[in-house]
Amino acid sequence: MIKPVWIRHASQLATLAGGSEEPVVGDRMNELTIIEDGSIWLEAGVIQRVGTDEELEQAYGHRAHEAQIIDAAGKLVTPGLVDPHTHLVHAGSRQNEFNMRLNGATYMEIMNNGGGIHSTTAATREASHEELFAQSKRRLDQFLLHGVTTVEAKSGYGLTLADEIKQLEVAKQLHESHPMDIISTFMGAHAVPREYREDPEAFVELVTQEMIPEVARRKLAEFNDVFCERGVFTPEQSKRILEAGARHGLLPKIHADEIEPYEGAELAAAIGAVSADHLLRASDRGIQLMAEAGVIAVLLPGTAFFLMAESANGRKMIDAGVAVAISTDCNPGSSPTVSLPLIMNLGCLKMGMTPAEVLTAATINAAHAIRRAHEIGSLEAGKKADVTIFDVPDFMTLQYRYGINHVDTVVKNGAIVVA
Ligand code: NIG
Ligand code: FE
Repeated sequence: MIKPVWIRHASQLATLAGGSEEPVVGDRMNELTIIEDGSIWLEAGVIQRVGTDEELEQAYGHRAHEAQIIDAAGKLVTPGLVDPHTHLVHAGSRQNEFNMRLNGATYMEIMNNGGGIHSTTAATREASHEELFAQSKRRLDQFLLHGVTTVEAKSGYGLTLADEIKQLEVAKQLHESHPMDIISTFMGAHAVPREYREDPEAFVELVTQEMIPEVARRKLAEFNDVFCERGVFTPEQSKRILEAGARHGLLPKIHADEIEPYEGAELAAAIGAVSADHLLRASDRGIQLMAEAGVIAVLLPGTAFFLMAESANGRKMIDAGVAVAISTDCNPGSSPTVSLPLIMNLGCLKMGMTPAEVLTAATINAAHAIRRAHEIGSLEAGKKADVTIFDVPDFMTLQYRYGINHVDTVVKNGAIVVA
């Protein structure tokens, strides 16, 4: 049994309490429910009590000798960060394409010429389970060092049944063997593989008739995602793919309106997707429909930054009543980073969000985007003991001193994993 952990004297304890039932929208995204001079008692992997130092001294003072005590004086304590959109499991690296883009090539040009997702697909197909595991574990370790305690992870670099399953099995093994929790998404519809170039419909058939049923049968994923983009999957194909997933119990997510406006937000609303992600070019009508349908916007400003494109309009979405979450999109082509705190900085600087809103977006709303808000995303008694401590005095400073890893301590499932 691990010892209880008592975090105390936090200058700010941002609890994000009260948002577990429904995704947090509107002005409420600015309410972090902060406790000053705060304390938390973690035991048996669960948050037992959150309150002021005084309250916890009264409740647990007599058990202080049993606990590992963390003095968080002058520090900010938040829920463990949640990254709801990553392509964590992949092999290889694409720094050569980064250089090509710096010399004027576009992301889609590179992909249409057989690079991009296709080049990572080739590397991932070639990698053994063990190689894929080792490369992905390294990224997972780095996520933890940046204060992230749960990540969603997509397949989509296999694009054959066996290789998609290989990716999902690596994710499963990582979930079971690593402190981090991994929530899996099947994304067989990430690209039309080269061998189906002349007959994309046959690939849609393969995804819907063979891959989805088999992934669902093996219980290897909870969500189903599709890259709905001109030249990749049309809105009509995307709809069929997401509906096929839903018939097998896989909840729909969608890469929508990333490069061009393509009615992705509208489609997400029409089918009741859990989230629509990217949305750089989403239409005003699409945003309105998402707000009405309760579709969460997972915004990825690191991708816009790295592709040198204009970011999604997070401000407009929040003002329209859309619940916004934020994520790294960690992948080798459009956002090779694990720094969710940097992405939060970009949320403020490039998407017009406030420091409080980006923290809501990276915790409780991110938890909603992967349907885990009942157990993570806020510091409330009964939730998982996932806590990040930043060496800054308040949540504003976390955004103000941008681009620095301020993580001081990470507690995952009640155990100190970064110190
Ligand atoms: O979310 N847009 C599609 N998929 C990823 C990029 C994948 C890649 O380039 O390898 C994204 O940006
Ligand atoms: Fe993505």
